Amino acid sequence: MNLFDLTGKNAVVVGGAGGIGQALAKGLCQAGARVMISSRNEESLKKAQAELKAECGADVLYYAADATDEGQVEKLCAEAVSKLGKISILINAQGFNKKFEALDFDMTAFRAMLDANITSLMMTAKYFGRHFKENGYGKIVNLSSVRGKIATKAAGNAAYCATKGAVDMLTKALAAEYGPFGVTVNAMGPNIVPTPAMTAIFEMRAKENNVTVEEYIKMQGAGIPMRRIGTADDLIGTAIYLSSAASDYMTGCTLYPDGGLTAIG
Ligand SMILES: NC(=O)c1ccc[n+]([C@@H]2O[C@H](COP(=O)([O-])OP(=O)(O)OC[C@H]3O[C@@H](n4cnc5c(N)ncnc54)[C@H](OP(=O)(O)O)[C@@H]3O)[C@@H](O)[C@H]2O)c1
Repeated sequence: MNLFDLTGKNAVVVGGAGGIGQALAKGLCQAGARVMISSRNEESLKKAQAELKAECGADVLYYAADATDEGQVEKLCAEAVSKLGKISILINAQGFNKKFEALDFDMTAFRAMLDANITSLMMTAKYFGRHFKENGYGKIVNLSSVRGKIATKAAGNAAYCATKGAVDMLTKALAAEYGPFGVTVNAMGPNIVPTPAMTAIFEMRAKENNVTVEEYIKMQGAGIPMRRIGTADDLIGTAIYLSSAASDYMTGCTLYPDGGLTAIG
């Protein structure tokens, strides 16, 4: 028996057209799962679908939905069940980070981050949780961050850190409620990973440090035990573990595929 085999399992990856979500969708497909990716922009979803076909030959489905809108999340869940059948894996890889110094925080952006980074995870957990309860089995994997555990010296991360700390506690609370239904709820907390979401942030930090983006990325890697920053593909193993039978007795945990940052942070 291969504990990590996902053959016959169906998965939904919210944020599946994003840098991390697409890599995790690829990993799930390579482990044998059938996957539906979802996010708001249909063009990005189509592009991700074509790239996944080219990269690993998988016929991934997509459905455009705003995960901060409860009605759309309910429809996403219904659509996934109608197209794929029983779903047993939900990956929440949506969210964003807008940085403002706390003394000057744009409160509209703060609320939008709460919505995308935490409320949307509750909404997907509500509707997919009902489906998982009916089936007596399910795996929920939430994208947290090292920033849910360690704040940054550099200013600007108040909202992001707060939402990711909330992801860790939501994960624990849902694990407690869903455990009796045979459903595990875990999170994974990467350190910085170069994805489209990070381009502007790398440019901003490089400027602040008076270095090029490449030099900034090297500097960041130098401070980590593994001496490099991670890639989206570095996160696949953790996601497969948390999506597979290998983790059936692990719930309420945040794992850190972070090159060792939180070991020294
Ligand atoms: N990259 C990093 O360094 C890093 C480190 C630690 C944790 N993380 C976390 O990992 C997750 C993915 O990050 P990423 O770097 O892959 O970002 P990304 O490349 O920007 O991808 C984010 C994805 O989420 C989708 N999304 C955003 N808001 C949404 C909403 N309201 N409803 C549905 N989909 C939505 C985006 O698509 P649309 O805009 O089309 O909806 C996109 O597909 C986030 O939770 C992030 O905080 C990232």
